[in-house]
Amino acid sequence: MTQQKTILRALAGETLDTPPIWMMRQAGRYLPEYKATRAQAGDFLSLCYNPELAAEVTLQPIRRYGFDAAILFADILLLPQALGADLWFVTGEGPRLSTITSADELAQLKPVEAIHDTLNPVYETVKILSQELPKETTLIGFAGAPWTVATYMIAGQGTPDQGPAHALKAENRAVFQGIMHRITEGTIAYLSKQIEAGAEVVKLFDSWAGSLQGEDFTEFSIKPMQRITAALKEKHPGIPVIAFPRGAGERYPGVHAATGADCVAVDDGIDAAWAAEHVQVDGCVQGNLKSSHMVTGGQDLVTETRRICDAFSKGPHIFNLGHGITPDANPDNVQLMIDTVRGG
Ligand code: CP3
Repeated sequence: MTQQKTILRALAGETLDTPPIWMMRQAGRYLPEYKATRAQAGDFLSLCYNPELAAEVTLQPIRRYGFDAAILFADILLLPQALGADLWFVTGEGPRLSTITSADELAQLKPVEAIHDTLNPVYETVKILSQELPKETTLIGFAGAPWTVATYMIAGQGTPDQGPAHALKAENRAVFQGIMHRITEGTIAYLSKQIEAGAEVVKLFDSWAGSLQGEDFTEFSIKPMQRITAALKEKHPGIPVIAFPRGAGERYPGVHAATGADCVAVDDGIDAAWAAEHVQVDGCVQGNLKSSHMVTGGQDLVTETRRICDAFSKGPHIFNLGHGITPDANPDNVQLMIDTVRGG
């Protein structure tokens, strides 16, 4: 059967006249309808674990804008919670977790087989979505990449420089590697279930890859993503994978081959023309537009959107931001970006 969904065509390496489009964090606080559903759920985690409401917020940006892909509404920190970490969100500040820094704490984590007890509602959300999405819309599942998830599990919160994770890596390699291993195996199990439930693509978010220096970048960002990609493709032949090593900078070239991913998501720290020459040569690319344009809008948004489309026009490309849209974004600017991509 000929593949009709534009995102899947781009992921298979096809160059399209108009790039398909979706947006990181497209379901979120910049949308009034998201805020209303979140209030109905009570809090963020209750929303993540409520399949009907999580499906509803996933569908909201599809209804409003007609994006080519929907991303499952969940969070990268649900996996640590399923492995036994305590998780809560402090309003206005972000996530908090119980920390894991010793062999004893590592030993207390639940086995990988146990994660589904907690994560079953997420698979339920995927099932609902695979029935309710328009037939042309691709459903993207996701997880955090092991390094990024480990930085939160070790520090117990977001950190500007991922200092606690770097310290554990230097001071207690065995515990650090034990945590990385458990997350890697958990991620394979988690994403496999998302795929079985109906996810058509999966994305690995390595939001903090940029702080890994030298060999560490290969060892702790690239290799775990490669292991996960290979295991998923072995179990689910043909499943497309998007890798997002945010902040990789001059190390972006070669990431397709090193991870086995079908698409590499690029942040806004690199130039699109350079990325076309050095990254897109190896396969599909996604991203690059600064999220701040969704706040400021205007001619700059139009000019930058066109520049990125032009730079990537000779190869497979999925239009996206370089990082997630922020709560202060104006929903009208999202429409302007879409009109610019689709209308030229
Ligand atoms: O729309 C989507 O993209 C799908 C859902 C999604 C969320 N988080 C929902 C969310 C996805 C793909 C994520 C990924 C995620 N979560 C990452 C990787 C991508 C990135 O942005 O770097 C990370 C590091 C997290 C962890 C996390 N979750 C943090 C640090 C925070 C607090 C900061 C913030 O943006 O509020 C969250 C909360 C979160 N995850 C919200 C949403 C919609 C906001 C919660 C709310 O409603 O208040």
